[in-house]
Amino acid sequence: MSIVDESARGSSRSPGISYQELLDTDTHAVPDELRVESPRHFGSADISAQRYTSRTWHEKEVQHVWSRAWQFACREEHIPDVGDYVVYDIVRHSFVIVRTAPDTIKAYWNSCLHRGRQLKDFDGHCEGEIRCPFHGFAWDLDGKFKRAPADWDFPTLATRADAGDFQLPEARVATWQGFVFINPDLDAPHFADWVGEGLGHFDRWDLASRYVEAHVAKVIECNWKISQEAFCEAYHADTTHPVTAKYLGNPNSQVDVWDNCSRVITPAGTASPSLWYDVDPDEMMRAMMDTRVDEETPFEIPDGDSCRRVAASAARDRWRPIVGDLADLWSDSEMIDNFDYTIFPNFHPWGSFNRIVYRFRPNGDDHRTSIMEVFLLSPFAGDRPPPAPVHWLGPDESFTDAPELGMIGKIFNQDLANMAKVQQGLESSKKGAVTLSDYMESKVRWLHHKLDAWISLGEASGSLDSEVAVEL
Ligand code: FES
Ligand SMILES: [Fe+2]
Repeated sequence: MSIVDESARGSSRSPGISYQELLDTDTHAVPDELRVESPRHFGSADISAQRYTSRTWHEKEVQHVWSRAWQFACREEHIPDVGDYVVYDIVRHSFVIVRTAPDTIKAYWNSCLHRGRQLKDFDGHCEGEIRCPFHGFAWDLDGKFKRAPADWDFPTLATRADAGDFQLPEARVATWQGFVFINPDLDAPHFADWVGEGLGHFDRWDLASRYVEAHVAKVIECNWKISQEAFCEAYHADTTHPVTAKYLGNPNSQVDVWDNCSRVITPAGTASPSLWYDVDPDEMMRAMMDTRVDEETPFEIPDGDSCRRVAASAARDRWRPIVGDLADLWSDSEMIDNFDYTIFPNFHPWGSFNRIVYRFRPNGDDHRTSIMEVFLLSPFAGDRPPPAPVHWLGPDESFTDAPELGMIGKIFNQDLANMAKVQQGLESSKKGAVTLSDYMESKVRWLHHKLDAWISLGEASGSLDSEVAVEL
């Protein structure tokens, strides 16, 4: 398959009101971050189903993507004190992310240099040293070898330790907006430089000043890309989440793609153009607020006013006690629209007051199951609350078994109904390929464009150039 990278939008256009046209009606100043448009047209070729089903493709991702990509490992607030650590697993590998000094975080390969036992099984705290539970080899927090029991039986150990042989091997670490990233590739470019355009939008939204109010994880019975792609486009929403068509302009979403960052902005307080009837403002508000039939509409909409403006005003009232002046400075769009960003390959911080952050990854080394995680990052007033512990949902539990997710648990369950079925459908596909739209699903195509580039160039030379079109 050939993927053509053209820096231009294809001919497709939704018949509805565009996001940019809605911005023209905003009651507050609209920042440049929202005015920028970066459509990318990658052609209309099909994508092979084997990318989701084959072990061979998985092995390529293990070798050329997960071993070299920056990946979100934890939040800084998960390891506030020196000696705190988090275990981060990705495919066959595991890393221990440790705060080694008040302003230093390191990531070590989670494998003892004696006989290889994992150094840490769970997140926790170590007092002054990292000690293996098998025979007791120990290292200082900075990775320097410290001691081994009965070291008289290791006559070369001291010499080798002096030579640096027993220093714990590290991965690279970067922090951004309170997130901690690791990269197994010690030669990787700096995280922020590598992500490039799009990342700076978050300077305005300052996710460092949020805390993890909820953290929910679930194993999904499908390849990690199927899980991720279920949350990468708004095209599915009119069908999978039909109620949202009353208050979200799903097909009018704006899709922007830069190099290693992309986004979908879905406007709220505007109906989908796929509806065959007009939605009156009161009905739109009831749908937006998930109001039951026996409940009053929570916000009255004066004659001549719009659901979009009243909802933005209500959001300002809700956030003002926590964020102060910001609530009156930011645009209506930032109050109510959805800003779904993706940093290649699998990190999804939402912008503005949306609290969602997703992470999707293979479930260990199994390419037919994946781990989906949802973090809710919330603003807070006063002292930083402790981060919520991860809430793992069991195989028979759904997202509504995590009440901390609120009404989005219901939405996720609608997505959940598709994901394993996509895997099953692709496993038995006669066609053997998926067909993507040119614009609305261009963020999905971007992911495959990037994977192509990483895998092909990794196989060819070990060098990376994401802008080169490749053959699959
Ligand atoms: S395997 Fe770690 S001390 Fe033996
Ligand atoms: Fe969805």
